[in-house]
Amino acid sequence: MSYNRRSFITFLGKATLGAVVAPPFLMGCGQNKNPNTPQLDVDALAALKRLPLKNIAASDVDDLLLTEGLDYQLLVKWGDAINGDDTFGYNNDFTCFIPFDDANPDDGLVWGNHEYINGLFVSGYNRRDPEAKRTKAQVDQEMYNVGGSIVRIKKTNGQWRVIENDPNNRRITGHTPIPFNWDQPVIGKRSAIGTLANCSGGITPWRTFLTCEENYDDCYGETVYDTNNQPSHVRSKYQGWEDFYDHPPEHYGWVVEVDPKDGSAQKHIALGRFAHECCTLKQLEDDRIVAYSGDDQNDGCLYKFIGSTPNSLKEGTLYVADTVNGEWLSLDWASQPVLQQHFKDQTEVLVRTREAALLVGGTQLNRPEDIEIDPISGGVFISLTNNKPKGDFHGSILKLEETAGAYDGLTFEASTYKAGGEAEGFTCPDNLAFDHAGNLWMTSDMSGSAMHKTDKPYMAFKNNSLYVIPRFGEDAGKVIRVISAPRDAELTGPWFAPDGKTLFLSVQHPGEQTQSLDAPTSLWPFDDDRIPKSAVVAIQGPLIEKLNQLQKLTS
Ligand code: FEO
Ligand code: CA
Ligand code: CA
Ligand code: CA
Repeated sequence: MSYNRRSFITFLGKATLGAVVAPPFLMGCGQNKNPNTPQLDVDALAALKRLPLKNIAASDVDDLLLTEGLDYQLLVKWGDAINGDDTFGYNNDFTCFIPFDDANPDDGLVWGNHEYINGLFVSGYNRRDPEAKRTKAQVDQEMYNVGGSIVRIKKTNGQWRVIENDPNNRRITGHTPIPFNWDQPVIGKRSAIGTLANCSGGITPWRTFLTCEENYDDCYGETVYDTNNQPSHVRSKYQGWEDFYDHPPEHYGWVVEVDPKDGSAQKHIALGRFAHECCTLKQLEDDRIVAYSGDDQNDGCLYKFIGSTPNSLKEGTLYVADTVNGEWLSLDWASQPVLQQHFKDQTEVLVRTREAALLVGGTQLNRPEDIEIDPISGGVFISLTNNKPKGDFHGSILKLEETAGAYDGLTFEASTYKAGGEAEGFTCPDNLAFDHAGNLWMTSDMSGSAMHKTDKPYMAFKNNSLYVIPRFGEDAGKVIRVISAPRDAELTGPWFAPDGKTLFLSVQHPGEQTQSLDAPTSLWPFDDDRIPKSAVVAIQGPLIEKLNQLQKLTS
């Protein structure tokens, strides 16, 4: 395996996009750029130009529906054997692909996050049965199915396939010991057992995966503090994991880095502890790292870590956004008297990041989800998916412009790029990805319990979808639905292959609302065992190529 860091940075960051001034390193979830985007001849370009970009109608059909010019193949799904011992985990969310060699975009490793479990399918535990109580065997089975998977894939004759039993194939699970990248212990320990609630993520310039622990309190609950700073334990939603394992809640809610070479992992304490949706990096000219991450809960804040030494996610300062005044506010214990009054040291500030953020004046937002940096404007785009208690049902996309384009600066301007709703044609934005031409792709995440309900504001949108917002041409700025998900499913983890010819995508939790195995609400992907399964699909077709060449085709 060749890991040439410099060439990788060049590969991701120095692409030319027309008039784009590409920063030295610009990368996030799903954003790759390739200076070798294929040069097409006149006839091929003319054919792409004729291909329409058609919006598909909202649908409640139980299938993965694609607009004209797109085709998909199923790559790997829940339960598939990936090596002699391991199977692909449950509910894959974030998906990314790193080629072994920049010169060959057709062979590399896919990382898939496994976010949460549905006991009915994974362990046989039925939460709707009042008599049911999880056994240790069921908890262990569920712990195995969260975390992430590394799977080698290869494209031959235009078709992707998994290389089963490849030595790189491995699992990280709820049982895997993972050290903290921090000099002090966290609740008495130097390492945690397992990673869980792995929602979205990112990649690093040194070619590792970042997987983000989001709704960690589902698994081992949470420690809360009263007005006298006295702690108490709130039970988990899963009701059972903490009966068999006494892992502290404080060992979860971190950004976790996984090295694909050997599967080793570490939890980055300096980036704070909250419901991390994603972690989107920007490497500065001097190789310091800036990392953006949002706290996906109602009224959660937006954070930025600014590294103080090159290529470190440990040495640096965490800030929280005041989006009203356009300021990044420091969460550094040593320089913030208000933090010194409430917490004994920096470790406690980082373990209780949410409380610290409000003490310094962080702005509460409407559930910040995915974050991407626009390769053309350099703006930072953040999905605010919704905040129902505050009456925001459709969410919006927030745009941050760092002052003078300085990602390590402490002031910015914030504005709404697009607000969701029936008029705009989208709702509940979640994952974002910019393609090679700077078009913005966006998934929706209406919750399964709110979809298709006449008393909820989502009827018109039907199933969750993937949208593209073209950058150039007659459709520029329009929100166009190009893929519709199976019943109850959410489309997650959009990620473009380095040559811009494949869009990797997760189809997560089809059939989530199933109450009985006898009557699943979805059968996708239509296996013989008639059980719905999350899966990673590879989407190809001339429309992917057209959109990645859009500026050339419309100029
Ligand atoms: Fe797991 Fe915030 O979506
Ligand atoms: Ca993304
Ligand atoms: Ca998400
Ligand atoms: Ca979501």
